[in-house]
Amino acid sequence: MISNGGTYIMTVTVESYRISDTVSRFLSRPRQLLINGRWVDAASGKTFEVVNPATGETVGRVAEGEREDIERAVRAAREAFEDSPWTKMTPSERGRLLWRLADLLEQNLDEFAELETIDNGKPISVARFADVPLAVDLFRYMAGWATKIEGNTIPISVPYAPGAEFLSYTLREPVGVVGQIIPWNFPLLMAAWKLGPALATGCTVVLKPAEQTPLSALRLGELILEAGYPDGVVNIVTGFGETAGAALASHPDVDKVAFTGSTEVGKLIVKAAGESNLKKVTLELGGKSPNIVLKDADLDLAIPGAANAIFFNHGQCCCAGSRLYIHKQIFDDVIDGVAKYAQKIRVGHGLDPKTQMGPLVSHDQLTRVCEYLQSGLSEGAKAVAGGKRIGDTGYFVEPTVLVNTRHDMKVVQEEIFGPVVTAMPFEDPEEITPVANDTVYGLAAAVWTRDISKGHRLARRLKAGSVWVNCYNIFDAALPFGGYKQSGWGREMGHAALDLYTEVKAVTVQL
Ligand code: NAI
Ligand code: MG
Repeated sequence: MISNGGTYIMTVTVESYRISDTVSRFLSRPRQLLINGRWVDAASGKTFEVVNPATGETVGRVAEGEREDIERAVRAAREAFEDSPWTKMTPSERGRLLWRLADLLEQNLDEFAELETIDNGKPISVARFADVPLAVDLFRYMAGWATKIEGNTIPISVPYAPGAEFLSYTLREPVGVVGQIIPWNFPLLMAAWKLGPALATGCTVVLKPAEQTPLSALRLGELILEAGYPDGVVNIVTGFGETAGAALASHPDVDKVAFTGSTEVGKLIVKAAGESNLKKVTLELGGKSPNIVLKDADLDLAIPGAANAIFFNHGQCCCAGSRLYIHKQIFDDVIDGVAKYAQKIRVGHGLDPKTQMGPLVSHDQLTRVCEYLQSGLSEGAKAVAGGKRIGDTGYFVEPTVLVNTRHDMKVVQEEIFGPVVTAMPFEDPEEITPVANDTVYGLAAAVWTRDISKGHRLARRLKAGSVWVNCYNIFDAALPFGGYKQSGWGREMGHAALDLYTEVKAVTVQL
């Protein structure tokens, strides 16, 4: 038990825990890169360490891929795309392969959940119930699409060819070799969001996992081979952003890059794409999502809802409900409820089945979040729950609720990506929409109200790719997800994602 400055007690159990034999075996030797269907060392022979954020200890090593490895991986993906069993595969076969991958993942659910917890820090219960099943479901959803990627037949008029007859139709063809760069907050799920539509449409892939969390993608690589994907269809290069990631984004033979991460790096990706070959770019970037509690909200729903909106995944969610706007008349009740909720969260080692919140992913992330806390408190914000780091082992931060915040504070403007919510009262619901929209981001937003018309009306006015009414963090493989403004380009999941992995070809035949 660690005392939190005397205000309350939080249970933290960073004690010894046992890693299963299966995972121990996986971690017992450096994991290699997957290139052209084979596991290989990095060209340089270098490896880097994998750290468990609950303890700060090194738990394994993985190959450090760089430009030369990206080069090899892109070559393999190009060959697989141009001339391989993959190009001859029927849509039905592609669908069955994806379904098989989903089955294999499901059969190894416990192992994946454990890997995710050790690598990212998240509670194993969450990895078991959310991360892994959502990845399985995404692959199954996309498997169904493989046979349903259709063009149109289009009647045309051609005013300058009177009397001529034509048959015009469109084909949807895979966009080609895709570079996929993913973050560390949902390592397996982000890999699934990216791989699913690419494999359903017939693209080939070079996937670069985040350097903080390479493990589950590498294990998934083994399942991809086991499922029977032809060599070179999926290549996985672990490594750092500035080297491996940058080489992928600027590679002249990559047809599209799909990125999830910070808005800052998103801009670098766009630049690299522009300066190399103008490859297609899709981006899923940061957020600072408003969560609005109206006067008539059902507080039994809204209070835990507002708490989960920010504290789920330790606030390391691009769509975290990090700006809480509460009607003046209920402000104290809601804040009191959310603060109490925050104080009851069991923070601890992710492998402890009772843990509800684990550590932040890395020492860097811990430093970043603590700097934001400092900044907010020094500008006059008050922490009614939390406000600082927990202990000095691992990267734990107290679930924090800040009040006395102003719109111009850094903590209200910038993405913190930690368990920190800023709260502000409002009076007129008409006035809150422009405030909620006054951000460079536009990923998500939520409204809590018993008045359904008001809920729908606000949903129309909020500039965000996802709007939740009387709920938060509801995701589904069938629902498009992505951002307005600087939260990104394009959408993930749903059939919207497929459009971004295909090119449209218009074919016209004179009859
Ligand atoms: P990041 O944007 O640097 O990393 C995300 C991915 O991009 C990683 O795979 C990384 O290796 C790669 N990358 C980094 N620099 C690159 C480059 N120059 N070219 C190509 N790829 C590159 O994010 P980071 O540094 O881990 O976290 C910083 C902040 O970014 C967080 O505090 C959070 O605010 C935001 N973030 C947002 C995420 C989201 O889901 N939208 C996910 C992760 C971070
Ligand atoms: Mg970075």
